[in-house]
Amino acid sequence: MTSGATSRYRKSIWGARVMLEVRDLHSGYGEAHVVRGVSLDVGSGEVVAVLGRNGMGKTTVIRSIMGLTPPQIRSGSIKWRGESLIGLRPHDIAARKIAIVPQGRRLFPSLTVTEHLTMLKSARARTGWTVERVFGIFPRLAARRHHRGGQLSGGERGMLAVGRALMIDPQLILMDEPSEGLAPVMVQHLEEIVLDLKREGLSILLVEQTSIVRSPSPTASISWRPGRSCIRATPRRWRSRPISCFNALACNKDWRAVRMS
Ligand SMILES: Nc1ncnc2c1ncn2[C@@H]1O[C@H](COP(=O)(O)OP(=O)(O)OP(=O)(O)O)[C@@H](O)[C@H]1O
Ligand SMILES: [Mg+2]
Repeated sequence: MTSGATSRYRKSIWGARVMLEVRDLHSGYGEAHVVRGVSLDVGSGEVVAVLGRNGMGKTTVIRSIMGLTPPQIRSGSIKWRGESLIGLRPHDIAARKIAIVPQGRRLFPSLTVTEHLTMLKSARARTGWTVERVFGIFPRLAARRHHRGGQLSGGERGMLAVGRALMIDPQLILMDEPSEGLAPVMVQHLEEIVLDLKREGLSILLVEQTSIVRSPSPTASISWRPGRSCIRATPRRWRSRPISCFNALACNKDWRAVRMS
């Protein structure tokens, strides 16, 4: 990273250094113009959740950031630490310490838990995230270390997808509906893991369907409205009137964002 890139860092509205900056992103599939002008920031050590109904383009945004095709980006900018990511291949983006937990987990049915974790990093590695450290936060995976992807439960698959993402020692994790298919107790565990990772300084951008607004996270506040002035709502208000609160703050009727701080 050059000092020029450093000097382009800005502070987000909450004071954290902006790491990921998406501006006026338009993206889609052939004639289908799905994402129309999405803007968002993720600061250093921040968790930002983008909420939207089925089919609104959440996965399209995540895939666009990760350089996965389809979709095709039509216009807009995606910057990581001041550097444009547009046009880079997914493995170049991963090399910049951006990891993805894809929707549906995308595990390999025939590979074991340990093999998934050591695909991108040697089992002997002793720096950053290691297999044993992943097993430390997900003891269930340790017990299943020799099981194959196709033999895991939904919850175990979710944990493995997060563990696999951690193995690249990411600075940013893009999580696409991490709570999908998980029992409420597992969702709560996942929220705790996400907040632990945040405390370690990781940035997390997650997308979820709007149902997550009913999850009473003690540390969440709503903050974001692209292109307009920001309004902040307290967690208490969020918990007591989640839907009306979100409606009041939504950047439009389908895209909503939450910042957990
Ligand atoms: N590969 C594709 N080719 C053509 N259209 C697609 C493709 N993938 C998604 N779409 C369309 O783009 C729109 C947005 O899809 P996307 O998967 O981004 O939505 P989403 O918000 O992630 O939905 P969900 O909550 O169901 O995961 C949908 O209308 C979908 O049908
Ligand atoms: Mg999706």
